[in-house]
Amino acid sequence: MSTNAHVIFVKRPGVDGAPADDNFGFEECPFPPDPEPGEILIKTLYLSVDPALRCRMNEKTGADYLTPWKIGEEAGGFGGLGQVIKSADPEFSPGDILESQFGWPWVAYFKQRQNKQTPLRKLDTALLGGNLTLPLTVLGMIGLTSYLGVKEKGGIKLGHNQAMVVSGAAGACGSIAGQLGRLEGCTTVVGICGSVEKCKVLTEELGFDAAINYKTEDVKEKLAELCPCGVDVYFDNVGGEISNTVINQMNKDSNVILCGQIAVYNQDLPYPPPIPESIESRLKELNISRTRFLVLNYVEKFEESLKKLAELVLSGKLKVRETTMEGLENTGKAFVSMMNGGNIGKQLVHVADP
Ligand SMILES: NC(=O)c1ccc[n+]([C@@H]2O[C@H](COP(=O)([O-])OP(=O)(O)OC[C@H]3O[C@@H](n4cnc5c(N)ncnc54)[C@H](OP(=O)(O)O)[C@@H]3O)[C@@H](O)[C@H]2O)c1
Repeated sequence: MSTNAHVIFVKRPGVDGAPADDNFGFEECPFPPDPEPGEILIKTLYLSVDPALRCRMNEKTGADYLTPWKIGEEAGGFGGLGQVIKSADPEFSPGDILESQFGWPWVAYFKQRQNKQTPLRKLDTALLGGNLTLPLTVLGMIGLTSYLGVKEKGGIKLGHNQAMVVSGAAGACGSIAGQLGRLEGCTTVVGICGSVEKCKVLTEELGFDAAINYKTEDVKEKLAELCPCGVDVYFDNVGGEISNTVINQMNKDSNVILCGQIAVYNQDLPYPPPIPESIESRLKELNISRTRFLVLNYVEKFEESLKKLAELVLSGKLKVRETTMEGLENTGKAFVSMMNGGNIGKQLVHVADP
């Protein structure tokens, strides 16, 4: 327990560049001294890597809630899961498993105090049914984003025969959002994603009616075939050309859940990025709602939503996929892989066992 190591950020990809493995380094660092009163010594077990971290690679993140990574310094993400090794905080004991959704350093061991910006939550592992990583997938920000996006912006009404389309459908949010759309009452759910294997997972494991591989198939043609009465709900994770194509097949008074625009995250654009004038006009003419969705604007609904998500997962109604890369030293690589579509479900990094 005397060695420690961390991921450092070594090179910006440039505001218009794609992230690469060599943007990150890995080196030994000092093991933290024993906790002072109020501090906890934590061992990292799992890390989450997320698309929004792409903004932290730029000198200016473009988002007031995100700070840029500094060259040569330790990198860090949002979600992480760890175990208490030593504690000088009466709320935590050695052996406790805890998580944070709002800031976890990419380091093997670190000390932290309980705080408001990156609150630590002790987990009741018995409630997780043996699946320790659920708080980094469906029972955390990913599940909340999908659930609250669908609930707050989807306009799904039971018995209205609505068709839902999800882009980035085999990813963390997309794979859950499509299943939730079905549970909320959509009668057709179509996913758009980037490989044959992903299409298979969506239709054979996750209950999507159909899937379109945007890399090899004509999205416009396939969508018209699969949603002959038009699209009523669009859970948009990607933006760009795919989203323009979907919006062009949306019905009057339908709803876009503007979750993310990953197709343009490597371009220096404000968020949400501008869309073509023709799409803007279509939205107006057909009264299609497309307002920004940010999960952090619904904090007061988190507790209740997590309860609902836990019921759905533990009853087997909602299935969860994850892709795990092994080793803290590969955290940067896992992030780059996820940005390039290497994941099915949530991309995680396994750092250590409890
Ligand atoms: N609004 C919020 O509060 C909120 C919260 C969390 C996440 N988000 C957003 O939700 C979206 C999904 O996040 P996630 O964590 O669930 O990531 P994810 O979907 O698990 O991973 C990203 C996926 O995006 C796809 N992708 C990458 N480049 C693409 C491109 N040019 N065109 C189409 N697809 C592309 C890849 O899958 P393919 O193989 O299909 O290409 C990749 O697997 C992101 O845009 C993220 O920023 C928003």
